[in-house]
Amino acid sequence: MIGPYFVTQGGIWCCLGGTHEADHHWGAYPSIVAFGVYLHVPFCRHRCDYCAFATWTDRHHLEARYLEACRRQVAEAAHALPPVTSVFVGGGTPSLVDPDALLAVLAEVPLADGAEVTVECNPDDLTDERAARYAAGGVTRLSLGVQSLVPEVLATLGREHDPANVTRAVAATRRAGLDLNVDLVYGAAGETPEQWAATVEATVALAPDHVSAYALTVEAGTPLAADPARHPDDDTQADQYLYVTEALGAAGYEWYEISNWARPGHECRHNLLYWTGGEYLAVGCAAHGHLGGRRYWNHRTPERYLDAVEAGRSPESGAEELEPAERAAESRQLAIRTRYGVAAGEVDDGALADLSGLVARTDDGRVVLTPAGRLLANEVAIRIG
Ligand SMILES: C[S@@+](CC[C@H](N)C(=O)[O-])C[C@H]1O[C@@H](n2cnc3c(N)ncnc32)[C@H](O)[C@@H]1O
Ligand code: SF4
Repeated sequence: MIGPYFVTQGGIWCCLGGTHEADHHWGAYPSIVAFGVYLHVPFCRHRCDYCAFATWTDRHHLEARYLEACRRQVAEAAHALPPVTSVFVGGGTPSLVDPDALLAVLAEVPLADGAEVTVECNPDDLTDERAARYAAGGVTRLSLGVQSLVPEVLATLGREHDPANVTRAVAATRRAGLDLNVDLVYGAAGETPEQWAATVEATVALAPDHVSAYALTVEAGTPLAADPARHPDDDTQADQYLYVTEALGAAGYEWYEISNWARPGHECRHNLLYWTGGEYLAVGCAAHGHLGGRRYWNHRTPERYLDAVEAGRSPESGAEELEPAERAAESRQLAIRTRYGVAAGEVDDGALADLSGLVARTDDGRVVLTPAGRLLANEVAIRIG
């Protein structure tokens, strides 16, 4: 199956350890080490039936307290942080909460000059006023959860937003001078090739700086998981992946990770941190962090997170440390998913021979996935591990 392994930013995403090796290739910060902050906002208006993120639709009364606790967590950590080169505010639906309270959390982050600050938004929420407020508060980039631009497909996905709001939200993002990512999902039940093509073409017409296209994944415990008739078909998703790869490439977007394409220079630096084993602080419930070679995660529910922070305790609920050999293997498994791949010398010759057609050797001695290999990225990653 096609694996959007790094789709999740909050509760269910797991950071794999690695090295900073690829910083050099991406050239993001030549003079300072990249360091990130992930802030999780666990509130949604409506629960999409494919979603397994840590988010709640019945806790809106906690929003103000929650954001104040996040502000306090950052304020208490700030003195020990290096300059922060990227912040990602994910959810949940960050655009649902009071922008001033959200920006008050961000104001505590000791940002490096030129830092990337992304906020995930639902297209329905993004008015001119909100986008301008974000821009004035230091946000540099918005990530819009578009998913599809075909109303029937949105309905099948159980999404409530009106595609017309996407056009309005994109215009608001641009008028505010912010960079734009569009998230798409393919593989909804009954989605035809024409419908997927229509979504991809309409997305290109919106001219975002960055596109994430995720294969719809059946997450355990979701209503989608309980309804096999709506489960995506692997072959259809493979065709859809090859289609979007071709169409985005033709429109000038460069592929740089299994599910991600960007105009040159607009790659998401925060996600690059994850894929290169970089370090980042976890803020909010269910957020995962990676500090000092140690992965950790915060309490999953907003209530337990609030109890900890308000009592002056750490919100951390668990951690793990990898042995050096495990870290090296996971680093390779992450790197192979990117356009930079791994150094040929790090991959066993036998494994390379077995992966013929799925990986290619570049002139500068790296091993990268071919388009066919990207469809089987999980298997390739395991075999080079
Ligand atoms: C956690 S959501 C946050 C953004 C916002 N709440 C939204 O849904 O638009 C981030 C992205 O994850 C993707 N996503 C969530 N669940 C998924 C699933 N089961 N399979 C594939 N993509 C998924 C969607 O593209 C979504 O835009
Ligand atoms: S809006 Fe986003 S985070 Fe909320 S339930 Fe839907 S997919 Fe999940």
